Amino acid sequence: MGEARVIGLVSGKGGVGKTSLCVNLGVSISDFGYEVTLVDADFSASNLGVYLGRYDHPVKIQDVLSGEDEVESAIFRHPTGVNAVTSSNEVTDIEPDLSRMDEILSKAAQSSDFVIVDFPPGLDTTVSSLMESCDELIVVTMPTQTAGINAAQITEKAKLDRQALLGSIINKVEGEPSRELITREVETMTETHILSEVPYDHEMKEALFHHKPLIEYDPISEAAMEIKSLAADMSGEEYKKPRFASIKRKLNKIKERIG
Ligand SMILES: Nc1ncnc2c1ncn2[C@@H]1O[C@H](COP(=O)(O)OP(=O)(O)O)[C@@H](O)[C@H]1O
Ligand SMILES: [Mg+2]
Repeated sequence: MGEARVIGLVSGKGGVGKTSLCVNLGVSISDFGYEVTLVDADFSASNLGVYLGRYDHPVKIQDVLSGEDEVESAIFRHPTGVNAVTSSNEVTDIEPDLSRMDEILSKAAQSSDFVIVDFPPGLDTTVSSLMESCDELIVVTMPTQTAGINAAQITEKAKLDRQALLGSIINKVEGEPSRELITREVETMTETHILSEVPYDHEMKEALFHHKPLIEYDPISEAAMEIKSLAADMSGEEYKKPRFASIKRKLNKIKERIG
């Protein structure tokens, strides 16, 4: 275990899949044997705990930012194997003082190999300040005009601030060039390297409904396999998508139905 890289998952637009990817990437990297800590920095729409199966740890990030608690008491071990710091749902906690953010992230980094920060959408002063607290950024976007434009804005901001950009993830790809941007267009718009294209997968919502990360709910679903492959790239591990995954998925569904 070493001093972790602190990676921020950013996006201009909301709803692109940052929190879903944060959890599923985190669990996948942890499955390769690394210590991973997920940090919810989306203070106004905090839902990392929900995506971790409605996990409600009593000490939230705001308690540390306010100086009430120590970082160590906010970090908890989740049954999936990842560590996490969740955020409060209190309306009074949506604009915390961020002066202790660097300390929180560096403490988390000391005991991890990867720290992944789940960002709020947009490009306000909170986002700028959080970006400065990260070592590297990954832009999450979707193959739509609006998401692409907002992703381009955040990329430009990151470049102006000389932040290290690992690249972009295009999420919810349906592979329909007549109604969505193609990879090259997203690449040109954002001027970033495309790290991964995660397919639109209805099981993502289904998994959430069952309080499980997709990686655990259905490890051979289309999106799960792509996320695992990205996790392997990020950690320098090997992952081969299982052969005949779609046939195996169909067989699993039939087995479920039969009970
Ligand atoms: N690859 C995907 N395929 C289908 N639905 C997805 C995918 N990724 C995320 N979603 C869904 O999109 C919605 C928004 O995702 P979320 O992770 O909360 O986005 P953000 O954190 O960027 O606001 C959720 O309902 C989630 O289940
Ligand atoms: Mg989110």
